[in-house]
Amino acid sequence: MADWHIGVIGGSGLYEPGALEDAQEIAVNSAFGEPSGPVTTGQLGGVKFTFIARHGAGHKRAPSEVNFRANIDVLKRCGVTDVLAISAIGSLKEEFAPGDFVAVDQLIDRTVGRERSFFGEGIVAHVPLADPVCPRLTELACKAAKKAGAKVHKGGIYVAIEGPQFSTRAESHLYRNWGADVIGMTAMPEARLAREAELPYALMGMVTDYDCWRDETADVDVTDILKVMAENSNKARTMLEALVAQLPKKREASPIDTILDYAIITPRE
Ligand code: ADE
Repeated sequence: MADWHIGVIGGSGLYEPGALEDAQEIAVNSAFGEPSGPVTTGQLGGVKFTFIARHGAGHKRAPSEVNFRANIDVLKRCGVTDVLAISAIGSLKEEFAPGDFVAVDQLIDRTVGRERSFFGEGIVAHVPLADPVCPRLTELACKAAKKAGAKVHKGGIYVAIEGPQFSTRAESHLYRNWGADVIGMTAMPEARLAREAELPYALMGMVTDYDCWRDETADVDVTDILKVMAENSNKARTMLEALVAQLPKKREASPIDTILDYAIITPRE
């Protein structure tokens, strides 16, 4: 059994200087191009953490401009064992109200043209993705978010859109008809790539709006999102502290740690 090292992919407001002990900002680069920015690595209650701000410092990268491959690659090479992604999401379901947290367990990918694999060009791999999130980390994150005072929904289907525009009303209704519960612009291909990098991945979404399907509320706009994110960022930080308190002392191996053993189809030469 090994030590935990949690990688956190989050919004720029999530990491504050002083949040981690022995914090170090490290400029990193990747063979897959430029990551969103430096990583900040340190300890929280004796557990190693490495943060990366998905949209970069000052939120300068649109969802389609995030180099998801580079971000996952640098976390992996920093020695991260598990990834907790935190992001703003819109709600497609009455019961998921702004301010609530949703531990996403399924994903529908409607993104287009993003680099979605580390493989190809001579090495072919097909990783299983039926259950794209790690149940163990999701469970731990749910307990932690509840401890932090959040209303948490365990399970939700997330539809990832390309953006950067929000959806049309017809699309919003279509996704609801598909059974999607929440909507966002970043979980794909992030979750695919985490799987290929053999990193268990959990996604805690923070509901910021009701998108544009609900007659009783105004259509989503960025002001709403920023307002709810600001109200929630304390809870997200407290969730991380509570997560440390929940973690078993040592990390038992996950089947995702070795998923490539059964996924690479190209024979070794
Ligand atoms: N992120 C937060 N709210 C969203 C919405 N309604 N659509 C897409 N991404 C979002």
